[in-house]
Amino acid sequence: MQTLPSPQNADARSTLSFDMDDWRGGYRSQPEEFAYWIDDIEGEIPIGLEGTLFRNGPGLLDIHGQTIKHPFDGDGMISSIAFKDGKAYYRNRFVRTEGYVAEQAARKPLYRGVFGTQKPGGWLANLFDLKLKNIANTHVIYWGGKLLALWEAAEPHRLHPESLETLGLDYLDGLLEPGDAFAAHPKIDPGDPAQDREPRLVNFSLKTGLSSTIRIHEFAPSGDRVTSYQQSIPGFAFMHDCMITPNYVIFFQNPVSFNPFPFLLGLKGAGECVEFNPKAKTNIILIPRDGESPLQSIEAPAGFVFHHVNAFEQDNKVFVDSIVYEDFPSLDEGMTFEEVDFSKVPAGQVWRFELDLAANTCDYTCLIARSCEFPALHPGRVGRPYRYLYIGAAHNSSGNAPLQAILKRDLETGEEQLWSEAPRGFMSEPVFVPHPNGQTEDDGWLLALIYNAARRCSDLIILDAKDISQGPIVRLKLKHHVPYGLHGSFVAEYFGPALAA
Ligand code: CO
Repeated sequence: MQTLPSPQNADARSTLSFDMDDWRGGYRSQPEEFAYWIDDIEGEIPIGLEGTLFRNGPGLLDIHGQTIKHPFDGDGMISSIAFKDGKAYYRNRFVRTEGYVAEQAARKPLYRGVFGTQKPGGWLANLFDLKLKNIANTHVIYWGGKLLALWEAAEPHRLHPESLETLGLDYLDGLLEPGDAFAAHPKIDPGDPAQDREPRLVNFSLKTGLSSTIRIHEFAPSGDRVTSYQQSIPGFAFMHDCMITPNYVIFFQNPVSFNPFPFLLGLKGAGECVEFNPKAKTNIILIPRDGESPLQSIEAPAGFVFHHVNAFEQDNKVFVDSIVYEDFPSLDEGMTFEEVDFSKVPAGQVWRFELDLAANTCDYTCLIARSCEFPALHPGRVGRPYRYLYIGAAHNSSGNAPLQAILKRDLETGEEQLWSEAPRGFMSEPVFVPHPNGQTEDDGWLLALIYNAARRCSDLIILDAKDISQGPIVRLKLKHHVPYGLHGSFVAEYFGPALAA
């Protein structure tokens, strides 16, 4: 028997900016691997745009017909779009992780997923199976001549930057031991030539349990490690991201606890055993980058943060802009991601935390109340005072919904611009690419893959970051869809095939 929607639900539905079946279409598996010149292009690719966009995300949402429970459990698939002389070349390839290779050969799931995907056979088959599958699906970075696919709970996979062929696990010149974690959110400190500071890649490894140890590594542009240091904090920590300033690495220890028993007993994935305590506080942890000084911990209200936007030091204070959820987003018991009711899941909002280190206090204010995720900014402003913030956003200004728009916020004037692909387009993380001769902070382009439900394929859209409200200046139409992804980066090197003279 079908249940009719109540009048209240019908009202809510009439204001929806999207259709649920359209949205689900972007979460179909993409088992195929492609490599081609993109020839279906609306508009002209700016000649100054040269380099390669790399994206990572789950490429498979099922393993030979068995749907995974959460997209975060999907095997990592890298897409690259290489730009040169007004042309663009697309390629995608799965990361040949040990798990991907074994499961594709066996034609069935062999591992449990951190976010609840279970092996077939019920709890008995999953009992005490703690083997994690390094799915390499979260981020992809190019640093020191290496292209690395990252997944926070294990080692990076190194890939060939042009062919995207998997070269194997990368232990960062002996820094990592087999099974060591390496977070999926490195931050690139742009450095400061005036102070003779070169750029650095800063990343961390987290070990957690009754207490947590955060180990931080900093790498020179050559890829060589410059320094490592670590600090321990009491309690369990679930830290997906960090933020940097010239003097600190900053973490949010949100009020979550971990109940391992359903995981050990094979009933739930580890990620489903995280419990949020709204009555407790968030600890904002500042670890000095000198590697010696003691850490500082400042209390803030409860909330859950996956991603930070930026942080900076100003007027003897530290400011941190982060995307805050009022609860840990999770799915109801027995539900898969395809059945999610957006109105019942908390929405992300951008909040600014103003930390007074001398007084050990925190003030906070909401910068963007609209549901949003996946921030971007000029790479030269990371860890520095900045003016322009770009972020994936919902089409409507209130309520939770999938990302369909990009929002640009001028943090000086409060002015906002919005470009929306609603009703049939679904947005992913925008990446800001500075104009090579850029004069201002917003002189550049925003690149974002969208899922275009009308074509059931993906488009890469390019927006002029100075004025996003005019819509894409170029739309590159891919011949297929790319499932909704996670993170990516743009590098100035062109990693496409040789261009004919
Ligand atoms: Co992330």
